[in-house]
Amino acid sequence: MDEYLRLCKGIILPIGSTEQHGPTGAIGTDFLTAEAIALEIGLLTGVLVAPAQCFGMAEHHLGFSGTMSLQPQTLLAVLHDLVLSLAGHGFERIYVVNGHGGNIATAKAAFSKAYVTAVARNLSVGSKLRCKLANWFMASEVFSEAQKLYGDSEGQHATPSEIAVTLHLEPTLIAKQRQLPTSAPVGPIYSAQDFRLRYPDGRMGSDPYLAKPEHGKTLLKKAAFALKEDLLNFFKAS
Ligand code: NI
Repeated sequence: MDEYLRLCKGIILPIGSTEQHGPTGAIGTDFLTAEAIALEIGLLTGVLVAPAQCFGMAEHHLGFSGTMSLQPQTLLAVLHDLVLSLAGHGFERIYVVNGHGGNIATAKAAFSKAYVTAVARNLSVGSKLRCKLANWFMASEVFSEAQKLYGDSEGQHATPSEIAVTLHLEPTLIAKQRQLPTSAPVGPIYSAQDFRLRYPDGRMGSDPYLAKPEHGKTLLKKAAFALKEDLLNFFKAS
């Protein structure tokens, strides 16, 4: 690791969530996808990839069994401590590949706190520490491919695009796929109880049965290429 740090002060950290993904999706969808895309970016760039942080802020999914959530303040503390660990070794650029929308606000708050702490602790990186959140599912190349493949059936949760990536990664999941009622509701997110009432089978506006493993292969490649460019720009910027 010391030798790596002499050559590169950047690292990729995948983060996801362990939460329900409808009746046919894997509980680990959000960390499996983030980790696979992070590893692909690592292959393309030679940048080191840290182990995935598999638990995220999924309080609103706790009405479904199997979901394991960190409260926002817990996730904030976890990400802050992971970033500070890396910063303490001399990492200056932490590129966080995220697979779960519910992590976005908390991750950004954790970065803000980490910048303060890095200076307060007099770490050698000090004010040179930079963190960037990359939500793979929001990359424009991924978004347009998902629109092309699925249109409005992409939805917002248990989406065919994320399910397709898991089918590509883990072919045993294909046997779990089946046709579900075609229209899943869309709307806001509040409590876990409210979520279960609004979205009875856990999906939000999506039709995951449209997902195919070959779509997942394409989406993974598109996400990795898009984020690779983003990472290289982030590492070059001041
Ligand atoms: Ni997901």
